[in-house]
Amino acid sequence: MNKLSVRDVDVTGRKVLVRVDFNVPLDENLRITDDTRIRASLPTIQYLLENGAAVILMSHLGRPKKGPEAKYSLKPTVARLQELLGDGVTVKFANDTIGYEARDMAQSLQPGEVLVLENLRFQPEEEANDVEFAQTLASLADVYVNDAFGSAHRAHASTAGVAHHLPAVSGFLMEREIGIMGKALEEPERPFVAILGGAKVSDKIGVVTNLLNKVDTLIIGGAMANTFLKALGHEVGASLVEPDRLKDAEELAGLAGLRDVKLMLPHDVVIADAVSETANVRVVKAHEV
Ligand code: 3PG
Repeated sequence: MNKLSVRDVDVTGRKVLVRVDFNVPLDENLRITDDTRIRASLPTIQYLLENGAAVILMSHLGRPKKGPEAKYSLKPTVARLQELLGDGVTVKFANDTIGYEARDMAQSLQPGEVLVLENLRFQPEEEANDVEFAQTLASLADVYVNDAFGSAHRAHASTAGVAHHLPAVSGFLMEREIGIMGKALEEPERPFVAILGGAKVSDKIGVVTNLLNKVDTLIIGGAMANTFLKALGHEVGASLVEPDRLKDAEELAGLAGLRDVKLMLPHDVVIADAVSETANVRVVKAHEV
């Protein structure tokens, strides 16, 4: 992989700021229902601890839009991380990201200890990729590691901005994912099929255009399929659609035809009369809706 990784920097005795993706699902009692993402970050965290770093973790959780809200707190992830790392490692939690508490705790953090900052998205500056916010985050540490593969497509302060203010390297999860994707894209075995999901076409126009140069079949799912279905003349009712992207979706479908790529959209869809667990639902053919 043509990227520096944690192996390429000296972390001993240094503070290392790691962007992880602890955006885990929680139930109504704020219990983690799937800790895969926390486990996926362990190799990087453990490597840094074993090599004498003081590790400061930062992440988002959910999409809070109104400042701090208990249901979006990263606290539950701290307890889980502590369990996974074991009693031999001290895991601390700061109730803010760049406030006095975070700064004091970061300053006094010792090699072999972990500090988790509160949800980055409690600060609007995070998603705005605010330069001052990124600089302040960077001032907490000596080295920046990005191991948040699931968030790497976002140009936010913690994923992009901070990398301008510290020596920046990738973590093991990032390295592995980029390696797998790089191989799949550069030397694919054929037939090469890509599956793409997510809510928005607008986020992925570049990715789809790029993939249409490489794949034999592109399967589109998630809510972004609605925009394609609508662009191709199907009814989608009140489903999530990007009306201002219908033209893009239509053009991408046309481009797939020109490139001889089979573009597959859902054949069957679930329709419901409400977004609720007790709604009446039916499975119908997408072209019959
Ligand atoms: C995800 O769950 O896809 C990542 O954590 C990114 O979250 P986001 O779509 O809210 O930026």
